Amino acid sequence: MSEDYLSDPNIGLRLIPEQASRHAEGVDMLYFALLGFSALLVTVLVGLVVTFGFRYRAGKTFRRRVTASHVGHRVEVGFALSLGVVFMALFAWAGKLYLNVYANTPAQATLNVVAKQWMWKVQHPDGTREINTLHVPANQSVRLRITSQDVIHSFSVPALRLKRDAVPGLYTSVTFVADKPGEYRLFCAEYCGTDHSRMRGKMVVMAPSDYQNWLTRNGTGTTPAAAGKALFRSYGCSGCHMGESSVRAPSLDGVYGRSVALANGGIIIADEAYLRDSIMRPQKHIVAGYQPVMPSFSGQISESDVLQIIAYLQSLKPGDWRTEAP
Ligand code: CUA
Repeated sequence: MSEDYLSDPNIGLRLIPEQASRHAEGVDMLYFALLGFSALLVTVLVGLVVTFGFRYRAGKTFRRRVTASHVGHRVEVGFALSLGVVFMALFAWAGKLYLNVYANTPAQATLNVVAKQWMWKVQHPDGTREINTLHVPANQSVRLRITSQDVIHSFSVPALRLKRDAVPGLYTSVTFVADKPGEYRLFCAEYCGTDHSRMRGKMVVMAPSDYQNWLTRNGTGTTPAAAGKALFRSYGCSGCHMGESSVRAPSLDGVYGRSVALANGGIIIADEAYLRDSIMRPQKHIVAGYQPVMPSFSGQISESDVLQIIAYLQSLKPGDWRTEAP
């Protein structure tokens, strides 16, 4: 990556970056509303302080000082209530914007982003991989499933008004529609060690047909689910979960999205987080009727491999394993 893109007017630093996603305008409106409201409040309060400072300054005499007990609490209560209403309205507005982007909503394409010191590793739905660059189709909903291999990082693309922490052991997500083809800067926005400042890249927004061409040119032809299937065997998962070994482990075809009864009486939905926990921290949730014998794969398997195994499990439908030999 060359340094000259720092001065590129399209992606260089500016106070307010250009708006390159569908939700960018809403975010900016909220930002300016907060700024405007804060400025108004500061003006009124400082104005009152200065006015009263002059009006009631030392040496000036008054016929009668009005005390709070004479006027009651109408002014205070009115001021506090109206401020409360305004702030709750701002909260609701911001909450709606937040959920729009950060709730775990399905999208037309889901990309995996794994952060590590000090790079961004990306995998596209068809298996194509890239590092520190993120190609996405314009005008389509794109979801990024973000996690970290080591410490906390933060995925930040100012032009798309996106910022989401990459947390080890957790899947976070952003869903957005980029609506302006171009190149935009990607930063790590959480101090993560020596080369934090170098942990950056770019997001390349392309017309959907260009994106498809790009995938065809760079793809490997192996989808995450197919790669996950191979990993499922090479890590030995299939031995207990599919085979007829002496160890009895839950069958996993169709497990994704199903509710699972746990040994402690609880019930959990088998989502991405549950599947990851089951691989990395198998003692966390013991499935009812099974022994806690699964070894932890923490430290032995990369986050990218976990994501691919999850993609494989997601691709399975109930009964799939009955039709194929283990
Ligand atoms: Cu990664 Cu800062």
